[in-house]
Amino acid sequence: MKILVTGGAGFIASHVSDAFLALGHDVAIVDNLASGKRENLPSAAAFYEVDIRDDKLADVFRAAKPDVVVHHAAHIEVARSVREPAYDASINILGSLNLLERCREHGVRKIIYAGTGGALVGEPIYIPVDEAHPIDPLAPYGVSKHTVEHYLFTYKANHGIEYTVLRYPNVYGPRQDPHGEAGVVAIFSLLMLAGKEATIFGDGTKTRDYVYVGDIAAANVLALNSPVSGVYNLGRGIEVTDLEVFEAVRAAVGSDTQPQFQPVRPGEVEHIALDSSKAQRELGWNWKVDFKEGVAKAVDFYREQVTRENT
Ligand SMILES: NC(=O)c1ccc[n+]([C@@H]2O[C@H](COP(=O)([O-])OP(=O)(O)OC[C@H]3O[C@@H](n4cnc5c(N)ncnc54)[C@H](O)[C@@H]3O)[C@@H](O)[C@H]2O)c1
Repeated sequence: MKILVTGGAGFIASHVSDAFLALGHDVAIVDNLASGKRENLPSAAAFYEVDIRDDKLADVFRAAKPDVVVHHAAHIEVARSVREPAYDASINILGSLNLLERCREHGVRKIIYAGTGGALVGEPIYIPVDEAHPIDPLAPYGVSKHTVEHYLFTYKANHGIEYTVLRYPNVYGPRQDPHGEAGVVAIFSLLMLAGKEATIFGDGTKTRDYVYVGDIAAANVLALNSPVSGVYNLGRGIEVTDLEVFEAVRAAVGSDTQPQFQPVRPGEVEHIALDSSKAQRELGWNWKVDFKEGVAKAVDFYREQVTRENT
């Protein structure tokens, strides 16, 4: 299958691209390297350094001729979306619309979209949050990510393009950029490996649902072959506190550092975990990597990275 992956130089979509390539698919990547890195690009994939908002995206479609588009390119900084909502929308909404229009022109059969489960519902009414939970984002990032879900519905209704929305929890693992805000495992790992103190925003009781990136890549593979359009939460349904993340990273690093505490940042929810029963039922997805095991894999990656940089 010919697959165009947007954002493939980034954390999650580089793993998704690896998984598609391992199955023998023909993968092309479009990314403007805003936060992505060349070193994340799989060598077997064609690469187009293009902004998804740009007219040049049409040339990418002409060259790659994708059957399926897997859309991960996005602005992902929640706090920046609060400060600069128009910037966030220009990429996450207008960039996505530019992409959808190219999909329509080129007869793309299906779009897989990296949605968010964690930033959509505001402070949840119940946990774990399922797909029927009311949508009430606290930050413009959640609004822009959710808007695309509506557009996907209209492109299916009006142009027959199938879609799968995968609403991600907090994804972590190798290649995650510590500068992104979901990257707490990466942030703690790099600070502790450097012997520095790590800061927890809040009192450490804030919770998130963490899924290892390999399990997320597996969901994208299942979505490729799914015959129906739909929206699916991915998550373990387990709340992990910031303090537990701190302790898991500290154990994997072998550090004895103590956390520093600072006030909570705007736009962040207190508690969240996602119910993925629908994805289990309809896509046959389930998570496999336990949190401590995943954190150990991530820390191994950062340790190697730090060693490489220091030699
Ligand atoms: N990391 C998480 O926990 C998480 C949670 C929920 C949803 N998501 C979604 O998953 C996707 C991937 O996130 P990630 O954590 O891998 O982030 P990332 O920043 O590593 O990847 C995003 C990629 O998109 C590229 N990009 C940004 N703007 C672009 C533009 N205008 N044109 C072309 N490319 C552009 C970046 O260069 C980067 O390579 C995003 O859509 C994000 O909203 C991530």
